[in-house]
This record gives sequence, structure tokens and C-alpha cells, in this order.
Amino acid sequence: MGNKKIVANQKMYMTREDIGRFINIIGSLSSDQFIVCPSSIYLNEFQDTNLHLGIQNICPYEKGAYTGEISIGQAKDYQVQYAIIGHSERRSFFSEKNEMFQKKIELCLKEEVTPIFCIGETKEQYEMHKTNQVLKRQLFDVLKNIDSKQISKIIIAYEPVWAIGTGLVPTEQEIDAIVVYIKQLIKQEWNQEVEVLYGGSVNYKNIQKLKTISSIDGFLVGGASKDAGELLKMYEVVVS
Ligand code: 13P
Repeated sequence: MGNKKIVANQKMYMTREDIGRFINIIGSLSSDQFIVCPSSIYLNEFQDTNLHLGIQNICPYEKGAYTGEISIGQAKDYQVQYAIIGHSERRSFFSEKNEMFQKKIELCLKEEVTPIFCIGETKEQYEMHKTNQVLKRQLFDVLKNIDSKQISKIIIAYEPVWAIGTGLVPTEQEIDAIVVYIKQLIKQEWNQEVEVLYGGSVNYKNIQKLKTISSIDGFLVGGASKDAGELLKMYEVVVS
């Protein structure tokens, strides 16, 4: 499935000043394989860069009286091509549920923005060997009502909750087996092929090894995406 992608999820880490520095270092990089998802309030700062852009969340409704939300149409005004949906931080801190993820994914597909749908098990589920079961449920509960012809337009991000921001990473064998499992499930159920990213404590030190996992199509990088220099080096490793 071609080169691996790097998707930078900058979460709520950056100030405007940080963004300015980040853009100075990396703003001229133009690659389909490299996508930056800044805090939405700074999307405007990226308009004169060559970077491909994503948004960290979108409103499940198209337009109207939804205080504090950002619509997919508004995101598209700022050249957003990707949207992260169902991140575990949205699930745990903002109580977002499957029904909402389904609506968001449908909106993305309608507006031709690529949804990056995040799934992943907790530490407890991992220790109880329930990972496959949990992932299957997360996928089916949200994707069951999506038109099957559209499924290949969705990118799946496998992000074990216990690996996010902890420095812990599953073994390459574990990641490979899970990504293969996700791809097989999608093939069996929808007869479609999808790209699957891995996310959770990816950094410059471990990306050399992680990039050897042939089944994965790229990485969703959180904390390490704050540093433009490190991110650029990670991109170079992945495309080399
Ligand atoms: P970290 O890379 O900080 O572990 O975060 C991963 C993540 O949540 C990306 O969406």
C-alpha cells in the first residue's frame, strides 16, 4: 500500500509561538505521506505552508447552534483533508460514544475528508487477552451502518490506550498480528482494504524498528510531534 504515513496529532500541546517555530522548520514539506493536525485555532497559521492538514475532532452536526464546535465545512475552509475521529482521549475525557463517531465519519465521507478512526484496548483488556475482541466491537459498532463501498476511504488507527503517552509500546510482532487481524476483519465483512496506522509512544528512537512492520501503513504520533526537528527526522526514516 505504498509509503508509510506520518500523522502528527499535536493535541493541545502547542502555543502560537510554538506553532511559528514549528512552521519555520517544517512548513515547506509537501508530502501526501505527512499530515499535521494542529489545534484548530491555529489552522490559519498553516495556510501559507505546504503541509497537508488534518483536524483533531469535528462536530457530528453540519451547521447550527452548537456552541464551541467546529464543523467539517469550517475545517475545509482551512484546507483540512483528514479528521481524527474516536481518539481515546475523546472517548475517556469527553464521553464521546459510537453513535457520535458514526455521524462524524459519515460527515467526513460526504465531504470527502478522510476520517482517521481510532480504536484500541485498555491495559486491563490487553492483560486479559481481549484485544481482538475489543477492537472488533469498536470497529463493528461504528462501521456497521456505513455504506460498504466507502469503507476503504477510512483510515484505521490502532492506538492501545495503555501505550498513549506512557512510553510503552507493544512488540513489533504484537502490532503486526493486530494490524493483520484488523485488515482481515474488514476484508471479510466489507470486502474492502483499508490503511491501518499505529499510534502510541512512537518517537525517533523506536520508529526505525516500528517501520519494519510490513503490515502497517504509518504512524499517528502524539507527544513527539511537538518537536519539528524530531518529526522531520521521523519522516525521513519512514520514507527512506
Ligand atoms: P503519544 O505519541 O504521545 O503516545 O500519543 C499517541 C496518540 O494519542 C496519537 O493520537
